[in-house]
Amino acid sequence: MQIILCESAEQVGGRAADIIEARVRQGPAVLGLATGGSPRTTYQELIRRHREEHLSFSQVTAFTLDEYAGLPPEHEQSYNSTIRREFVGHVDLPLEKLFTPQGDAADLVAEADRYDAAITAAGGVDIQVLGIGANGHIGFNEPTSSLVSRTRVKTLAGATRADNARFFPAGDVPRLCLTQGLGTIREAKLAVLVAMGENKAAAVHAMVEGPVSAHCPASVLQMHRRAVVILDPAAACRLTLLDYYRDAQEFNDQLGQTPTRPWLQQPV
Ligand code: PGA
Repeated sequence: MQIILCESAEQVGGRAADIIEARVRQGPAVLGLATGGSPRTTYQELIRRHREEHLSFSQVTAFTLDEYAGLPPEHEQSYNSTIRREFVGHVDLPLEKLFTPQGDAADLVAEADRYDAAITAAGGVDIQVLGIGANGHIGFNEPTSSLVSRTRVKTLAGATRADNARFFPAGDVPRLCLTQGLGTIREAKLAVLVAMGENKAAAVHAMVEGPVSAHCPASVLQMHRRAVVILDPAAACRLTLLDYYRDAQEFNDQLGQTPTRPWLQQPV
């Protein structure tokens, strides 16, 4: 796992955008897109680079991480609507190459299997963008999720429903979702997790420095060959090896490249 420490949420977005831009400029790419507050500065920076620096997403295929069960794609709070509103609708990524699990499918179990197979058929995800829940979830893989799980139907944790209640003023937060599994996420060629804010600090500590455990699903990234974790100071504040992460980062930054992580410059 590579830890990148930033001064602000904007800087987090800038560093994540650098990694994504480098891959997208290489040619056709498959991106895994997270929704939620965490990747917002990343998407805003990518939109800016699209508008001002000719960064094109015309050769990108995108798969979202998850979707609420029961919501049709056109529902304002579906993740299909959310990702179009926050990112895809502002760049030249062709809408027919944006895929989300269909939350209102008649057979959710079959839909989950179909979605997982569609990711594989597209050649797998090149870069998976991730946030982390305060309870350590990634996607909607709540604590106790199998570390080898595939895309499937999950019951949302009470804490997750409470976190997301602000988007459902009528109080009708869905109870079920479809989410890429931890095994699915682990197959992405590169995982880029962004986190900011003190309410993420305990989960970030468990993910980076705790044991690999289904109790903190994000800790599965310790088993990922190419995972980058980009943090603002508040999200990083409970890490115990901060001096080491800072040293490694300074060394890499001084050289203007990442010699200990040469794969960041290579096709993923
Ligand atoms: P957030 O959610 O980015 O809105 O904080 C992250 C998550 O719950 O996965």
